Amino acid sequence: MPLAPPMHRIVFLGPPGAGKGTQAAELAKVLGIPHISTGDLLRAAVAQHTPLGIEADGYMRAGKLVPDDLVLRMLQERLRSPDARSGYLLDGFPRTLVQAEALTGFAPIDRVVSFEIPESVLMERLTQRRSCPNCGAVYNLVTQPPRVAGTCDKCGGTLVGRPDDRPEPVYTRLQTYHRQTAPLLEHYARLGLLSRIDAQGSREAVSERIRKAVA
Ligand code: AP5
Repeated sequence: MPLAPPMHRIVFLGPPGAGKGTQAAELAKVLGIPHISTGDLLRAAVAQHTPLGIEADGYMRAGKLVPDDLVLRMLQERLRSPDARSGYLLDGFPRTLVQAEALTGFAPIDRVVSFEIPESVLMERLTQRRSCPNCGAVYNLVTQPPRVAGTCDKCGGTLVGRPDDRPEPVYTRLQTYHRQTAPLLEHYARLGLLSRIDAQGSREAVSERIRKAVA
């Protein structure tokens, strides 16, 4: 009988701008599992003016976390999709101990990868980030510029800066990360699930470190 492929149920944790989304998109493709970013799901809800999006918008613009109950409901629904049956890569979830404890009840995790990076590098990455509101592709004006300035290589959409990449929300997001999300590192270390990786350097170098961590 053929062996079942290994199951990958992975969490990416790290401060804003650490490169989680960039690396998650690539690794999910390699492993054939869905890349589930709660930030992307919330931005889609905001763009579509759903009741969730309308409620989440103010929190996101200010760089604050969206309340746990809203995010948990959204994620549980996403994980019920058939594509999540053979694994998933959670990008930006969980972000609080309440979320981490709830997750244990509905979705097992095999590995948590923590992106470790100095704040000065994060600030530079966030101020130079541009993304495509049409297809979600992410660029960087310094390290990964689009072929034509201001235009998405993939779909031709007009690139924009995220409203929460302005200095004030970035400051709040960093504070929020240290206060509410960083304690999860200790939580997952105790469970023996945590791998810390150096998130500085080229995308290829970071990707190689992550692949070793999840192998
Ligand atoms: P979310 O979208 O998850 O934002 P974040 O965690 O702050 O992370 P970012 O998307 O800013 O950064 P990233 O680490 O993905 O970096 P990226 O790969 O883009 O959340 C947004 C908001 O939604 C939250 O503030 C909150 O309000 C809400 N939210 C989401 N999840 C929630 C939850 N679970 N609970 C409650 N609220 C929630 O890279 C950044 C830049 O660097 C890019 O320009 C990229 O091209 C560049 N880059 C990437 N890698 C490299 C490299 N190796 N070298 C050079 N440049 C690089």
